Amino acid sequence: MADTDSEAKNPATQVVTGGRRKEWTGSVVNPPVWRGSTHLYENVAHLRDGVKSNADGRFFYGRRGSPTQWSLAEALTEMEPGAAGTMLYPSGVAAISCALLAVLKPGDEILLADSSYDPSRSFADVFLKRMGISARYYDPTVSTDIAELFAPNTRAILMESPGSLTFEVQDIPAICTVAHSAGIVTLLDNTWATSRFFPALEHGVDIAITAATKYIVGHSDVMMGAVTTHGKYWNSLRRTAQQLGQVVSPDDAYLAARGLRTLDVRLRQHEASALKIARWLKERPEVGLVLHPALPDCPGHELWKRDFKGSSGLFSFELSDGNERSRATFIDALTLFGIGYSWGGFESLALPVDPEKHRSATEWTGKGPLVRLNIGLEDSDDLIADLAKGFEHYHSARS
Ligand SMILES: Cc1ncc(COP(=O)(O)O)c(C=O)c1O
Repeated sequence: MADTDSEAKNPATQVVTGGRRKEWTGSVVNPPVWRGSTHLYENVAHLRDGVKSNADGRFFYGRRGSPTQWSLAEALTEMEPGAAGTMLYPSGVAAISCALLAVLKPGDEILLADSSYDPSRSFADVFLKRMGISARYYDPTVSTDIAELFAPNTRAILMESPGSLTFEVQDIPAICTVAHSAGIVTLLDNTWATSRFFPALEHGVDIAITAATKYIVGHSDVMMGAVTTHGKYWNSLRRTAQQLGQVVSPDDAYLAARGLRTLDVRLRQHEASALKIARWLKERPEVGLVLHPALPDCPGHELWKRDFKGSSGLFSFELSDGNERSRATFIDALTLFGIGYSWGGFESLALPVDPEKHRSATEWTGKGPLVRLNIGLEDSDDLIADLAKGFEHYHSARS
């Protein structure tokens, strides 16, 4: 295989070829796992020379990674046209917090979508607050009117689209346009869509964050986060990660790269199965709203249609007339859906979610308890049969 070239490739090709430079793979297909803390130099002059560049692609010390990590980072960078580079972190939460620390300083304010992932909220409300950085929350359905919230010290906006419990799609290009004219940096938790379905930088985002734990890894066996940005914030992102000692193990990078190679085909299957199941749920008498961005009555559906190249396998639905007990009975009765946090893996999951507990700027006014489904790669008819069985138990808990 030739060295990675800069020619634009289609996404399915890109995830297969990305980062597989000949100098890193040698004569095998995948860059091997280079385990190492100490990197050895030829002589003292070579050692001294090493400090002259802080770029990936040359051995320095274990914390700077090896071809296994560089290759993964390069492949992720290639998926975001306009990106200068990608930093890897040991979890999605580490990626979010380090990206924020790279752009914020005491006295600044950050705006966060009210639908944000709860640990992002708590990082802002507790950790950033302790550093003298304040946080305010905004309605995720705002557009350019977010500018009305800007204060002289507003420095950053953390978006998440769609929200991972309630799936509101945000008007990212509009928010980024007004933010940039006010000198505000825009960050996006892009875990649901990944760069495959939403190339964030092309839509105006400065800093794109992915919990690689989910779809990139894809096999529920590795924790990892990734942050990709353009030239303006690259040095600051990289320096901050290095100062905070962020590094991922080569074994984990190897597994994440292995997941990445099948991202395109997995995402397309997650999309097809999730849509089929979401549409089936919509017809069920037990179900109220189905919160799936590709369905017309999901908040932000028109924005999803305008901006996204696809939908992934995570969505929620309301159990109308349900309660805590009947919801638990429904979920407990499922045999093909595991009960657990996280998503994006090959296996299906069901989770009770309570968005009203994680809101401050808006009120969640759902008509029944919510269930979030991660639709895995099982046969969709088998999953539907399992859900139908769950509804039988659900009725018995309500009678
Ligand atoms: C939307 C979203 N962002 C970030 C994360 C954090 O990722 P990690 O679990 O790898 O820290 C999660 C985890 O569930 C998530 O759902």
